[in-house]
Amino acid sequence: MTVPAGGGERRTRATPALARETCYGPTVRRISALLIATATALGCGSAASPPAPDPARELAGAYPEHATGGGALRTFELTAAEAEVPLIDGAPLKVWAYNGQVPGPTLRVRLGDTVRVRFTNRLPQETTIHWHGVRVPNAMDGVPHATQPPIQPGASFTYEFTPKDAGTFWFHPHVRSSEQVERGLYGLLIVEDRAPPPYTRDVTWILDDWLLGPDRQLEPGFNTPHDLMHDGRWGNAITVNGRTDTVLPIAAGERIRLRLLNASNGRIYVPDLVGLDAQIIAVDGLYARAPQPLGRFELAPGNRLDLDVTAQGGGRSLVVMDRFTPQRPNRLAEIEVDGTAATPAFPSPAKAHVPAWRGALALPLTHEYRLDARQGGPLGIEWTLNDQAFSGHEHAHPSLELVRGKWARLRFANASARLHPIHLHGMFFKVIARDGAAVDEPFFRDTVLIHGRETIDIGLVPLDAGDWMLHCHILEHAEAGMMTMLAVRDPQ
Ligand code: C2O
Ligand code: CU
Repeated sequence: MTVPAGGGERRTRATPALARETCYGPTVRRISALLIATATALGCGSAASPPAPDPARELAGAYPEHATGGGALRTFELTAAEAEVPLIDGAPLKVWAYNGQVPGPTLRVRLGDTVRVRFTNRLPQETTIHWHGVRVPNAMDGVPHATQPPIQPGASFTYEFTPKDAGTFWFHPHVRSSEQVERGLYGLLIVEDRAPPPYTRDVTWILDDWLLGPDRQLEPGFNTPHDLMHDGRWGNAITVNGRTDTVLPIAAGERIRLRLLNASNGRIYVPDLVGLDAQIIAVDGLYARAPQPLGRFELAPGNRLDLDVTAQGGGRSLVVMDRFTPQRPNRLAEIEVDGTAATPAFPSPAKAHVPAWRGALALPLTHEYRLDARQGGPLGIEWTLNDQAFSGHEHAHPSLELVRGKWARLRFANASARLHPIHLHGMFFKVIARDGAAVDEPFFRDTVLIHGRETIDIGLVPLDAGDWMLHCHILEHAEAGMMTMLAVRDPQ
């Protein structure tokens, strides 16, 4: 793996900043003595302290800069069109679908393969496909006007890229997404490891919710003032793989790789695997540093979780619940444990190099985004980043320039009381602080949920030049302006 050197210049500049901010700065003085003790233990403030490590160098070995290739060319045909499919409780539902299916087909390839998708738009409006979480060349990112012209009804476009990372990714339109994703346009792209760990089975659960009217069809009003004032469009029917009656039969002893995706417009899930041994092995595609207990992981729109699940004791039926709102849990699916099977013994694949970036909070902030709302705009309410509402990709100008290979620290300060799962295209990041207190999440992400009034700092090293979107993945918030573009430039 090669990560372009961050530049020695940054390193010399960073040292005084570390001494000043970590030991005496306002950020740290606010927080606990524990953290200060940590900083001291790291050698901060001592005359003999070594220079702060360059976080871009610490990234080395985490994930590759380039695709290695060497696999097959895998060609898929995808068509988006209106369809009527038995969904939710099994009654026919009018949807928009990829290849007539909701969820769309799962595209499964192996690391090293090249993915070619010949896409045709048979929808009554223009669309594109965005490959969420996949580090694609910028021109394949599916952002209308910015990376390609929108695909007109009746027109086709071929996407082609070689994934750089194995993991659980997904695809969805990036045009009028609050309508197009809600109507059923999404699917999984699974990139298997070159040598996949020998799980008994690989199971995918796509979580979604649907807002149905009295006729049990999709409520046709999109981007309503209610949705915009709250956390987007939350439905009145929750499905796993399109159905409310999903059952996963497993034998005691089986070791399953369970891949979860939240494809909802706005709803957050906290999946409760009801006492099964469930360890997080990957978040947003990439393996974690070590397996993590599932705990109360907030699966926000766009997020993926890969779980290593083993069941013990047969003859029981377990109801998997969503406990995001503890007082009002929702039923997600059922797991029926019956029979026995041998448990394959192999080490967890969660053993990735994920840098701790311990000194990172002391390095200068690259940019701060203030998340807020105001009245006005075409929908009546605008969601803003630094008082800017994104008004169509045609007029987009990057709000920030980053240098490829150089570490950056971004801050999202939520001035509103609503939820904002912030997603970045084309790169992974790591959460390094919540409300000013250092955190070391043992995994990367491409989407992080920011709660009302919360401030989150992330660290990242962009590795691909181009214009990349940064937006709220509550799709109504994004439609109402909470989007911006980052330009990643080659170093001079
Ligand atoms: Cu899944 Cu621009 O997002
Ligand atoms: Cu939002």
